[in-house]
Amino acid sequence: MSAPSTSIESTLVENRVFEPTEAFAKGARVSGMAAYDALCAEAENDFEGFWARLARESLTWHKPFTKTLDESNAPFYRWFDDGEINASYNCLDRHMGTPVENKTAIIFEADGGEVTKVTYKELLAKVSQFANALKARGVKKGDVVVVYMPMTVEGVVAMQACARIGATHSVVFGGFSAKALQERIQDAGAVAVITANYQLRGGKELPLKSIVDEGIAMGGCETIKNVLVFQRTQTACNMVAGRDSFMHEAMAVESTDCPAEMVGAEHPLFVLYTSGSTGKPKGVQHSTAGYLLWANLTMQWTFDLKDDDIFWCTADIGWITGHSYVAYGPLAAGATQIVFEGVPTFPNAGRFWQMIERHKCTIFYTAPTAIRSLIKAAESDEKVHPARSDLSSLRILGSVGEPINPEAWMWYYKHVGGERCPIVDTFWQTETGGHMITPLPGATPLVPGSCTLPLPGIAAAIVDETGNDVPNGAGGILVVKKPWPSMIRTIWGDPERFKKSYFPEELKGYYLAGDGAVRSADRGYFRITGRIDDVLNVSGHRMGTMEIESALVGKTDLVAEAAVVGRPDDVTGEAIVAFVVLKRSVPTGDEAKAIANELRNWVGKEIGPIAKPKEIRFGENLPKTRSGKIMRRLLRALAKGEAITQDTSTLENPAILEQLAKTN
Ligand code: PRX
Repeated sequence: MSAPSTSIESTLVENRVFEPTEAFAKGARVSGMAAYDALCAEAENDFEGFWARLARESLTWHKPFTKTLDESNAPFYRWFDDGEINASYNCLDRHMGTPVENKTAIIFEADGGEVTKVTYKELLAKVSQFANALKARGVKKGDVVVVYMPMTVEGVVAMQACARIGATHSVVFGGFSAKALQERIQDAGAVAVITANYQLRGGKELPLKSIVDEGIAMGGCETIKNVLVFQRTQTACNMVAGRDSFMHEAMAVESTDCPAEMVGAEHPLFVLYTSGSTGKPKGVQHSTAGYLLWANLTMQWTFDLKDDDIFWCTADIGWITGHSYVAYGPLAAGATQIVFEGVPTFPNAGRFWQMIERHKCTIFYTAPTAIRSLIKAAESDEKVHPARSDLSSLRILGSVGEPINPEAWMWYYKHVGGERCPIVDTFWQTETGGHMITPLPGATPLVPGSCTLPLPGIAAAIVDETGNDVPNGAGGILVVKKPWPSMIRTIWGDPERFKKSYFPEELKGYYLAGDGAVRSADRGYFRITGRIDDVLNVSGHRMGTMEIESALVGKTDLVAEAAVVGRPDDVTGEAIVAFVVLKRSVPTGDEAKAIANELRNWVGKEIGPIAKPKEIRFGENLPKTRSGKIMRRLLRALAKGEAITQDTSTLENPAILEQLAKTN
């Protein structure tokens, strides 16, 4: 096996095709391409009827909807608008009195290896108790609650409890800094924070509650009236009288009965912040019914979910994947799922494979970055190779978050899936709520590195700058031509930005994904070529270059100017490279290293460790045009270590290139 590479060339010549086996196709929910085509045709012939049928079949409505789609105020589409529903009811209550009631909902494996199981009935009781505790603290329908929690059963309980009482949750990934948390609390106008005293990752105890305290103390968080603290470890944490309470104490005095608060179909279930091409993260607002419909339905279609499946999505609840395929989709579908607190490399890099064996996992869903780092680990230490574990329970593999290079795809297929399990390479985004372009395991012939075809009803297309279709084989801009139920509804508090970012006038009202793509000439299969805006994808995490730049220039005593670009990286997909002009002379040697370190730590504090640049280079200036515009394409070439062969005639200060070509 050669070292994995992210080069696009290898995908261009990709001609391996893996058809679903007859046996697999036969038992699948969407069986064969004819079944896929039939669903697509149904959506084509009666768009609204198609979605209405699915919404009636896969959700339990308190009050049925009569109108499917309201386009009168496009792009602010409204789906199933006059229907009433509750997401938590659909994930829990509706399974009561069915065989799912006593089924295991969550197999929780702690960082240290302890395993706990929770049935649907027990989960409903926990969620209800916690929902009552929130209500007792005055949290009500329409309020926003920030969730800053580790990957635990309690993290899921927190989200479900909010949904149960009609509060809108906003989960902030536990790796974000106090400043990032404070900005999100303030932007969302949250009334409460749900957190833990500490989180356990890789054998380390990392603080969460003290970061919440620090964030709130930064100001602008006066709306916060309550902080609820899950006591994950025995280590004490600061508790503010009158504001803070422990989750277990608050729950102990509450009833396990809490009728779900019914909300309108369009009621915001959650806001999740993600990076865009400006410095400020965007609060992506999702609906209740349309979102849940897609989370549930894609569990059936993409993952071909069966009653006895053991589903495992390794994503953190702090990201959209953890929302749709941990907190909502598997529960709405009545699945048994694994929730894992720790990291894939602790106590060793065989942890994922050992866990698949231990829990007899059947559907495994992870990110290419994880696969690539585990390939590296397995190649250097045979003891953590997947061959050391019994992976025969697996039947479907999934990939999400970034393009998967064919080499990594083949390794995953062969060494994890035993050349038996289809790989669903799911393309989607925080904004899309659920899968958009993905193979169906019992239907679609697979091509490594390609997310293949759009799901039925999803009008994905590739267009030029004026919104006209480009032919197969020619690259272009990925758009979605029609609305779909789980689409982003707006940017929290900024409808204008929503319109401008996602529905630019020149694209005929199509949804702009922000990615480039190309369809293969033979099959019309989609391949995502990467972001076309200033957004980087580092280890499957979305980072705005401007966000990192504004953090860097925020170090006002040191930094005059900064520009951030991405560089291809074998493991993380992209790596962050920052070019920095200091307010002092250009440092060299150890001094340069020390300043670079100081800046990396600064960015870690401003945003979070995931945003720390891998490399920082210093120069007297940045390459600029005569009108003062930074020439990023040159910086991208320099970051890659390429010789500058591009046209530099518009460059004001060519001498600067030589300086910035040097690594510290
Ligand atoms: O660039 C695409 C990439 O991840 C972006 C969305 O990031 P985020 O909102 O954080 O959601 C990640 C989890 C859904 C997209 O714009 N991306 C996601 N999945 C794929 C992908 N790129 C290629 N192939 C994928 N399967």
